[in-house]
Amino acid sequence: MILRLIRKSELSEGDTKLKKLMGKTYLVRKNASGIQVIEYMCRHQLASLELGKLEGNVITCPRHNWKYDITTGECIFGDGTPLKFCKFEEDSEWIYLVVDSDYE
Ligand code: FES
Repeated sequence: MILRLIRKSELSEGDTKLKKLMGKTYLVRKNASGIQVIEYMCRHQLASLELGKLEGNVITCPRHNWKYDITTGECIFGDGTPLKFCKFEEDSEWIYLVVDSDYE
């Protein structure tokens, strides 16, 4: 299944946007390397990281303080499980989230 996530016109190079879809928050980034879509949910107990504290590239989960590098997804404090990079597709107008069969 694919779902519309963000219009490409909302995303200029260098932008990072948060989008909510089906109860989850996604971080969408466009830079010189291309587009990244990251599930912006803590890998501990799936708290949205939207309300976390962002310092530089490190987001701290508001619930139990796990920390992630949002550029690499690396978990730098917690059990080491990285943020989930999501599959996406795009056409001339939209970026679509590709939803896995294990979508929770
Ligand atoms: S839910 Fe994020 S650290 Fe527990």
